[in-house]
Amino acid sequence: MGQWFTRTPKPTQAASLLQTPTLDGVAQYIAENRVRNIVVMCGAGISTSAGIPDFRTKGSGLYDNLQKYKLPRAESIFTLSYFRDRPHAFYELCKEMWPGNYDATPGHYFIRLLHEKGLLRRCFTQNIDSLERMAGIPDDKVVAAHGNFDSAHVIDTDADVDINDLKKALDQGEGGWRRLQADEGGLVKPRIVFFGEELPSRFFELSERDLPVCDLLIVLGTSLVVHPFAGLVCEAGAGAPRLLINRERAGEDQEGGFVLRKRGPCRDAFHKGDIDSGCRALATALGWREDLEALIDSKGTARISRAAWI
Ligand code: OAD
Repeated sequence: MGQWFTRTPKPTQAASLLQTPTLDGVAQYIAENRVRNIVVMCGAGISTSAGIPDFRTKGSGLYDNLQKYKLPRAESIFTLSYFRDRPHAFYELCKEMWPGNYDATPGHYFIRLLHEKGLLRRCFTQNIDSLERMAGIPDDKVVAAHGNFDSAHVIDTDADVDINDLKKALDQGEGGWRRLQADEGGLVKPRIVFFGEELPSRFFELSERDLPVCDLLIVLGTSLVVHPFAGLVCEAGAGAPRLLINRERAGEDQEGGFVLRKRGPCRDAFHKGDIDSGCRALATALGWREDLEALIDSKGTARISRAAWI
């Protein structure tokens, strides 16, 4: 997979330990330590309940369902060399993935809840669906590490192109995007990070600032195989406990990665299961279940009070 580079972990403080590596243990840690700097990392698993497939789940993941494009490798759909030769495939996929057709999930509203409680330092997402915005998490709290459909560029010159022009061109089919290519002097794509492309500078600036000082890291729905994003797990200050909610174990094979044990005291907790039910259980353990349901039911318009210690 795309390995841009890895960074060395920078421990900043002695480890704080969870009494039990469970959602209850994490809730206890949050309340007892008056936590106020939570960093969330999320991947495609947080959006599957909205109807958007993840990438690597066997059978339902995107990479198992690209046969119609006859790609040499599934990941070719996100590589510049293939896009240059055969733009059709990615452009077709773009039309399917364009934001606007999906609602935020309970997992997204849980992150919004952390924001309303005054505890969210940042949400780093690998997702390009912008469902964090749909859930009402302010843009300054979100880092779209792999880009999104907010803006577009010419791949050879990096010149900006109005994303609405690209949308219009794609709606018109091949004639449309060929015309746009001629007008702009090159192929245009949304600013979605392809394998081998640099991540946005905001990712590096804010991850270096946020991870060392967070007091809890919550990781939701990612296989943690794509770097540099996966490496953020290792950059959380050593004093920060880490929680993974995922259908399967992840992030254990990198240096400084998760050490997932069944019993505490320990630094890392793993809740094996669906994100929506895991986030609901964590909200319940924190006494915030009604607030979470109010946000979900109102599609984010409910007023939520801050945590008692903020
Ligand atoms: P993956 O498809 O690799 O991993 C998704 C993870 O979420 C898997 O471990 C699933 O088991 C889990 N999962 C799925 N649905 C879930 C649910 N409802 N509840 C709990 N867990 C669930 O997706 P990412 O890790 O996000 O990059 O993939 C990372 C990057 O690979 C993407 O951003 C994309 C891709 O190539 C680029 O396009 C550059």
